[in-house]
Amino acid sequence: MSTLTKEFPAPAELATPSNFDKNEAHQVTTALAGLTADVFALYVKTKNFHWHLSGPRFRDLHLLFDEQADQLFAMIDVLAERARKVGGTTIRSIGHIGALTRIEDDNDAFVAAEDMLARLEADNLTLERHLREVHEAAEKAGDKATTSILEVYLDETQRRIWFLYEARQQ
Ligand SMILES: [Fe+2]
Repeated sequence: MSTLTKEFPAPAELATPSNFDKNEAHQVTTALAGLTADVFALYVKTKNFHWHLSGPRFRDLHLLFDEQADQLFAMIDVLAERARKVGGTTIRSIGHIGALTRIEDDNDAFVAAEDMLARLEADNLTLERHLREVHEAAEKAGDKATTSILEVYLDETQRRIWFLYEARQQ
């Protein structure tokens, strides 16, 4: 089986011992891997806009995107390690991130500032839905540590959406 599919059971050497039901834990770690890929992709996209922004709102949006990118970057290691603690595996490469993420790449040579805000707002709304899905799987598995971490990330994601939305009103 390709290591780039959405379903990838951990090899025996990486099956961290736990009291979780194996099947339920697998649902959680698979969902976590997809989420980690989404966050990585959104991190790169937010940095892309941080780097390629132009126009009269350069300073405030350049700083806003950087703040949001830092927040996303901080999520990656925590989410990846949750998957390992629960007995699963996580993203292995840029190719793997590309195969798993549901956040679309943005390769446009120029994006107007207001379009950057709108695209990031839509992507963060997508991410927010995926956070809820993983939360549901974690709740079912009784994985309290994952649900508690995801609750903080839901709040941060809703904050990013709020800031992006308000910045679009100017
Ligand atoms: Fe920078």
